[in-house]
Amino acid sequence: MPKPHIIAVVNQKGGTGKTTTTVNLGRAIAEFGKKVLLMDLDPQGSLSYYLGANSNVWSISDVILEDISFHNALIQRENMHIIPADVTLADLELSLVNYQGREQIVKKMIEQHAQEYDYILIDCSPSLSILTVNALVAAHSIIIPLQMEVLSMHGLELILETIEQVKKTVNPELQIMGILILMYNIRRRITQEVHNHIKKTYNFVPIFQTHIRTDVKLVEAPSFGKSVFEYAPQSNGAEDYLNLAREIIAKEAMS
Ligand SMILES: Nc1ncnc2c1ncn2[C@@H]1O[C@H](COP(=O)(O)OP(=O)(O)OP(=O)(O)O)[C@@H](O)[C@H]1O
Ligand SMILES: [Mg+2]
Repeated sequence: MPKPHIIAVVNQKGGTGKTTTTVNLGRAIAEFGKKVLLMDLDPQGSLSYYLGANSNVWSISDVILEDISFHNALIQRENMHIIPADVTLADLELSLVNYQGREQIVKKMIEQHAQEYDYILIDCSPSLSILTVNALVAAHSIIIPLQMEVLSMHGLELILETIEQVKKTVNPELQIMGILILMYNIRRRITQEVHNHIKKTYNFVPIFQTHIRTDVKLVEAPSFGKSVFEYAPQSNGAEDYLNLAREIIAKEAMS
């Protein structure tokens, strides 16, 4: 894998655990001594809010508009760098509609500053908007967080199509690192059924061995502006995201 490894966390369905995964996986990877940048590419700014990085004067919009340098927009939290987003990103996105090269903006922005990081994780908005396409163009790999529910499967087809499209055109190297199963509950029959269905129907898409269990600590942590590692280091959530980081780092070592 090239350095840095750029991972986009994508699912156009809302509330599937994208932000929770970006923050806590990033923090888990940092635990292994890696240099991590979290990029908020969602105008909702949830990732920035999560880590209390939302009151900054500057955001990623200002970097894209070249009003401010990349380094000046960075915020440091829990051993990671964060490039925050806010609602101005929605206006910016609208203004990009007729801009030539609009799909490459984030890639260009990262390219100039990436060398200092081992991993860059991009939190995407729940849509297949031009910003999400920017993330897919910039990324080497994709993580798709998915809950084992019937409605979650519904959207999977759409993301996979978009990824194929991006691979065929602008980013042939793009890889799906895996579907990440969240809120896994082995006692629920639907969990098993959906899991089996995905394995059968999308057998070309890897599924991470690590599952993220339902854990209220993951829900509470953002109210304190902390990752689950700072808020509840002994929790299942911390354990699961640490295992996921281990799985990802091991995968990388093999490739
Ligand atoms: N493993 C988990 N156990 C319990 N709750 C979880 C877990 N993962 C995420 N959640 C909760 O589910 C909700 C949605 O998670 P999150 O905000 O990460 O999703 P998202 O995909 O980023 O949403 P959006 O599409 O709006 O950006 C949040 O309230 C979060 O705390
Ligand atoms: Mg989110």
